[in-house]
Order: sequence, then C-alpha cells, then structure tokens
Amino acid sequence: MTGHTEPGRDRLVRVTEVGPRDGLQNEAVRVPTAVKVEFINRLAAAGFPEIEATSFVSAKWVPQLGDAAEVMRTVARRAGTIFSALVPNERGLDAALESRVDKVAVFTSASESFSQRNTNGSIDEVLARLAGVVARARAVGLPVRGYISCVVRCPFEGAIEPSKVREVAQRLLAMGCPEIDLGDTIGAAEPDDISRLYESLGGVVAPHESTLHLHDTRHRASACVERALTLGVRSFDSSTAGLGGCPFAPGAPGNLASEALVKTIEGAGFDAGIDTAALAAAAQWIRHELGALRGASE
Ligand code: HMG
Ligand code: MG
Repeated sequence: MTGHTEPGRDRLVRVTEVGPRDGLQNEAVRVPTAVKVEFINRLAAAGFPEIEATSFVSAKWVPQLGDAAEVMRTVARRAGTIFSALVPNERGLDAALESRVDKVAVFTSASESFSQRNTNGSIDEVLARLAGVVARARAVGLPVRGYISCVVRCPFEGAIEPSKVREVAQRLLAMGCPEIDLGDTIGAAEPDDISRLYESLGGVVAPHESTLHLHDTRHRASACVERALTLGVRSFDSSTAGLGGCPFAPGAPGNLASEALVKTIEGAGFDAGIDTAALAAAAQWIRHELGALRGASE
C-alpha cells in the first residue's frame, strides 16, 4: 500500500522498526545526533507503529548510542507512534524514564556464551538484573518487551536447543514481561528452524503473541517470515535499508530490511500499514547520509 488507510485488523501485521538502534549501534562511523533524529522522524512519518529509537546501555560498550538521552529529547513525538529503547539494567531504566521512553526493551540470550559477551553476565545474572527493570517499568505503566537472542544459533556455541529458548521465555514471562521477541541474532535460521522453534514454544508463547527479529546474513530471512506468517506470527522487527548487526556477534552483518519485510507481508496477502514510498525515501536518505559519513572518514 502507499497511503495511510486503516488495514483490516485481521490482516494487519505489526512491524517494529529497529534501524535507529540495531542498525546504528553497529556503524563504524560516528553518526551525528541530528542525522539519527531525522532518520527516526522520517520512519515515524512512514507509519511504523513502533520505533526502537536508541539504547540506554553503557557508552563504554556501545559508544555509537551514547547520545540516547539527546535522541529521545529531540525526536518529534507523534500520536500513534511508540518510541522504545533498549534497557540493560536499572541505571539504564532511570535514564530511559527521564527521557520519557514509551516502552522498554530488555534483552537476554538463550546462549550462555553470548550472554557473557553481550551483557557481561550469565543468563541467570542478567535475568536477575532485568527483574527489577521489568517490575519498575510496569509499575509506572510502561509496556515491556523481552528479547531472547541466539534463538537458533550462537556465534560462539553453534546450534541452540529450542528447549533453552522455551526456558528463558518462561522466566521472562514469569517476571512480568508479556512480549517475547525472538532474535535470530546472526541470521542463521531456515524456515524449518522457525517451525521447530514455535513447536517447542507451544503452551508458553503462542505465535500471535510473539515478535520475530531476524537478521538477514544468508538472505533467508524473507523465507522465514513467510513460514512464520503461516504459523500465525503477526509481529516482526526490521531495519530500514537493512542496516545493522550486533557488535558482540561476529558474522551478523545486517537486519532484515524493512522494505523487504513489508514486501513479504504484502505478498502474503497481509498489510503492514506502512507508506512504502515514504519508507523507500527514508532508506535512500539514510544510505546517502551514511555513505557521505563513511566517505568523509576514509
Ligand atoms: P558491566 O560492565 O557488567 O556493568 O556492563 P558495570 O556495572 O560493571 O558497568 C560498566 C560501566 O558502564 C560503568 O562505568 C558503569 O557505570 C557503566 P565506569 O564505572 O566504568 O565508568 N554503565 C552504564 N552506563 C550507562 N548506562 C547504563 C550503564 N550500565 C553500566 N545502563 C552492561 C553491563 C549490560 C551495562 C554492558 O555490558 C552493556 O551495556 N552492554 C551492551 C550490550 C548491547 O547493547 N548489545 C547490543 C544490543 S543487544 C542486540 O543487538 C541483540 C538484539 O538486537 C536481538 C538479536 O538480534 O538477537 C536485541
Ligand atoms: Mg538484532
């Protein structure tokens, strides 16, 4: 679709844009705050219902997003657009609340090795940190999503048992985190992996209650989306222009592009409610901006 007509609710698939966070956290060049803000404003105008705008993590770990508070302060808030941010601990939550985030995204992993590399703690330790974050966010009425990384494969441990994903999902749900976001951090998934994953999550996380977060390393992400749609998944993350990857996950070059995701959703007979012309223009704009910044840094 090219406009903002309201799609029928039963055909609506939710797309959360994570480019400003998952995309820009991985940029080698310093991206000025003004560029981030304009990128986010353009994405909001394209109709994304939710934009993961930044990350309140340690700037020592992710210097690319050290301007999180300024980004949140400057972005043009819009009715109908949720501006969320990644939060690793209570210190991050304090900053996120002060910056008036609309939603908090906490994150852990189904792989112990990735948990250590990404968050400097075991899965148990990270979940213990997150319990306070989730409780406080909910107490002030903020929605919370809980990411589980490496749901199919870990860059350090290889294949991950779906039963481990199930266990971590159960623990996040028990702490009061209602939205489980399943991350294929290094883009390893094949459609059959997606089927196995949801089969294993049966009785814990229903497909229509989950979000799927795919990276597109091997160009199989769209095939995984098609499978997930047939299973009943109705919420996905993606990154405009396919930007991104995790600095702590070697071999994860880019997220599933929002343009490709919207095309796949529409091709399967669903609607994402996104203005595709505005999305294409935003993708072209950020590619140009990043190209100029990378060129200037050479
Ligand atoms: P740590 O080193 O264990 O924590 O970090 P610490 O308490 O020892 O603190 C270290 C320093 O960071 C200290 O500064 C803290 O004050 C500071 P110092 O005393 O040395 O000057 N610090 C903070 N500063 C600002 N905001 C904070 C904060 N917390 C501590 N919130 C921590 C633990 C988790 C904080 C750290 O490891 C970290 O920030 N990691 C970053 C992880 C990250 O952002 N990874 C990328 C995002 S996850 C992802 O991409 C996957 C996803 O896309 C899904 C998928 O694809 O699978 C979501
Ligand atoms: Mg990611």
